[in-house]
Amino acid sequence: MASNGSTAVDHKAKKAGGLASVLAVGTANPPNVVYQDEFADYYFRVTNNEHKVELKEKLKRVCEKSMIKKRHFFLNEEKLKENPNLCSFMDHASLDTRHDIVVEEVPKLGEKAAIKALEEWGRPRSDITHIIFCSTGGVDLPGADYRIIKLLGLSPSTKRVMLYSQGCFAGGTVLRIAKDLAENNDDARVLIVCAELTVISFRGPDDEHLDNLVGQAIFADGAAAVVVGGKPIPGVETALFEIVSTDQYILPESEGFIGGHLREVGLTFHLHNQVPSTVGKHIEKTLVKAFSPLGISDWNSLFWITHPGGRAIIDKIQEKLELKPEKMRAIRHVLSQYGNMSSPSVFFIMDEMRKHSAAHGKSTAGEGLEWGVLHGLGPGITVETVVLHAPPLHAAAISKA
Ligand code: CAA
Repeated sequence: MASNGSTAVDHKAKKAGGLASVLAVGTANPPNVVYQDEFADYYFRVTNNEHKVELKEKLKRVCEKSMIKKRHFFLNEEKLKENPNLCSFMDHASLDTRHDIVVEEVPKLGEKAAIKALEEWGRPRSDITHIIFCSTGGVDLPGADYRIIKLLGLSPSTKRVMLYSQGCFAGGTVLRIAKDLAENNDDARVLIVCAELTVISFRGPDDEHLDNLVGQAIFADGAAAVVVGGKPIPGVETALFEIVSTDQYILPESEGFIGGHLREVGLTFHLHNQVPSTVGKHIEKTLVKAFSPLGISDWNSLFWITHPGGRAIIDKIQEKLELKPEKMRAIRHVLSQYGNMSSPSVFFIMDEMRKHSAAHGKSTAGEGLEWGVLHGLGPGITVETVVLHAPPLHAAAISKA
């Protein structure tokens, strides 16, 4: 098993830029925190809907079952009072208000995460050759990719890829694109930044749209940045995770199950109540395709970084694949502390996993294991599957984490 896998890694390492690796990770959140056990009271108060007693009780039930303890938000009560059109369900055109905030604030939150990743990476910022910026909201020309180059003082010849409106699977998409860029361009160093603010989709409740209530109960704000490159410079750079292969797959029988529409009222989203069972039913197909070339079929032998779409999705994956509870530890930890932050979520899990591994003296950033899977899940339902290889960590890398 391991020898097949090692051969695959050796083969890919011979490409022009070497095998792409994650060299550093940073995360950031707005400082404002809302605790989940207070969220229903907060939400119905700030949106002036306290008379909708039954809906509020329903939101309380969803919050209790979400396993989320707290979430971070840019919006707070004061900002919502200044912008009351964000609090109605769909009565007011609010896209301009939302865009005015998101266009400014998404790059700034991304910058905070990027500063941490760049500090860990340790090389001059001028050595970043490419940037991939990903955000669901804030379409603008030039975009958030341009703005962050200015904020960070990166080279004006940094080559940019901007991904808007991808949703939650994009944490996998950015690794897929970064791998291609890093492996096909000598000395490439790719800065990935995923930054998401729920300002684009926050809205009040409606009796007919209960999936809106579920989304308000689970989505949250956050940003993550990752430096990716091949052929790490010994003593300067450390490969935490090697990106061995990537794939994208649309799940059968899932059309319309997760979707969004950008309208004058902002982004509306749709979450079918069969999302958890559909993901559970089909997820193994992605694993078989990704890991059979490596001779791996024991899913408990992997470390797991799955987009924390919701507690029921993680439960279904664990149940269907008969995964041991510890396989989901880092995923559940991030869900409980931050909620579903869309695209950056998988990098929060990656960061939590490598820190936990270091703190517990594990030999790799993947909880001491060699092979792992990263799953992005989102609109479609689309699944991004990334096969990760965690090389042995040397002492310096462990102390850096
Ligand atoms: N739409 C409307 N109502 C829903 C719903 C949905 N999609 N899912 C659950 N509910 C309702 C249930 O009907 C139930 O209502 P009542 O209490 O009135 O009976 C209530 O929520 C609680 O449901 P359950 O008692 O069945 O509890 P649960 O164990 O299912 O937990 C949950 C609730 C935490 C929301 C869980 O269902 C869950 O995690 N669901 C997954 C949410 C989801 O779709 N996540 C994907 C988000 S999309 C994404 O991540 C990618 C992107 O691109 C945006």
